[in-house]
Amino acid sequence: MTESITSASDKIWSGRFAEPVSDLVKRYTASVFFDRRMWRQDIRGSLAHARMLARQGILAAADLAAIESGMASITNEIEAGTFHWNLDDEDVHLNIEKRLTALVGDAGKRLHTGRSRNDQVATDIRLWLRDSIDEIDGLLRAMQAALLNMAEAHADTPLPGFTHLQVAQPVTFGHHLLAYFEMLRRDRERFADCRKRVNRLPLGAAALAGTTFPIDRESVAHELGFESVCENSLDAVSDRDFAIEFCGAAALVMTHISRFSEELILWMSPRVGFIDLADRFCTGSSIMPQKKNPDVPELARGKTGRVFGHLMGLLTLMKGQPLAYNKDNQEDKEPLFDTADTLMDTLRIFAELVPGIRVKPEAMAAALRQGYATATDLADYLVKKGLPFRDAHEAVARAVRACEIRGCDLADLSVDALREFSPLIADDVHSVLTVAGSLAARDHLGGTAPNQVRAAIVRSRARL
Ligand code: ARG
Repeated sequence: MTESITSASDKIWSGRFAEPVSDLVKRYTASVFFDRRMWRQDIRGSLAHARMLARQGILAAADLAAIESGMASITNEIEAGTFHWNLDDEDVHLNIEKRLTALVGDAGKRLHTGRSRNDQVATDIRLWLRDSIDEIDGLLRAMQAALLNMAEAHADTPLPGFTHLQVAQPVTFGHHLLAYFEMLRRDRERFADCRKRVNRLPLGAAALAGTTFPIDRESVAHELGFESVCENSLDAVSDRDFAIEFCGAAALVMTHISRFSEELILWMSPRVGFIDLADRFCTGSSIMPQKKNPDVPELARGKTGRVFGHLMGLLTLMKGQPLAYNKDNQEDKEPLFDTADTLMDTLRIFAELVPGIRVKPEAMAAALRQGYATATDLADYLVKKGLPFRDAHEAVARAVRACEIRGCDLADLSVDALREFSPLIADDVHSVLTVAGSLAARDHLGGTAPNQVRAAIVRSRARL
């Protein structure tokens, strides 16, 4: 990126200085390498500002017209790749302003009236984040839709539900996938909530104290689609808590994806063999010809750490900064951009990966036969016959120990053999010891009974 950025002196603020900054300082303090990706937001913000200045009689109509046509040319140049980004102009804001002045003369120099780069950059980031949040919401929704489709296909497929990574009780694979659907539902709520606080206009705060010009901030907010204006100028230019919230919301999405990834990796391990991932999401080994590695989920799990790091970085960046704007804040952009990029790429790939999961119901069923998954059902059965739950728990525990010695499952024991553990056990016991019976019995809102899973899918589809 840096190669296309040239250096040619004549800084906008150089009037105050007796000597130019060294090349090293120039490079160290410049942000144009990375903040130029906010150019669209910068131009949008500048145009809204200029139009407000004209409405308020602060800028002549002819100057506004010149600014509008200059910005249109700049837009074309950047889109065409012919715009000349210059390191000496530090950041995206000064690069665009300088070019505007070159194109339209004094009108370009009047644009910055009643404004500072401090409120300008805060506005640009908020516009950029708002766009990003809207895109992320669409991607989260796409992944939810993929999960729902897969859940629907497996509303009846039994899977061992685990606690402590040991077989606990039967669930359906559809029910399991819906757990992730719910996580992503909360993630979308979190971003929607964060968006409210992102969507406030800092412009008008100027450097820190406001401006002496008779500006109309509400009209700028309206033009840019902000819900309201930031009500304190010092806060408007200096705080980045909205960016930290964004990274917090992103860190939680990645947490959820990381948990899902961990399960995919485990399920795909030949030792478990519950699923297979489509070849296009896996890679081979350069030395072991038999390998098919789940690289995509592993990388997603790894990238989660990187997103956590950005959250911690931004918290640390903010901590201890006195009011108002400090140059520290220039460091907010790279972590933010990388967080959004990482999250979006991950969501894009997962929306495609989920439909490529090949489920192996036989392996899931075989695992269920090994873990006494219906032991709780037997205890519940005894409770329904009048035994206190603690006594029922004890009776079933003894039955499980006997099965372990004989190397069989509870369902393999005859009624007579089972009656050794409790005389309350009768001929009807085998219906509760089957996986299908166990699943069907959990028939309430939020339970894993297949008809409940199907009802949850209907509710979830309506919410999408
Ligand atoms: N490039 C700066 C940033 O990203 C813009 C604001 C600079 N303001 C200043 N007074 N140096 O934060």
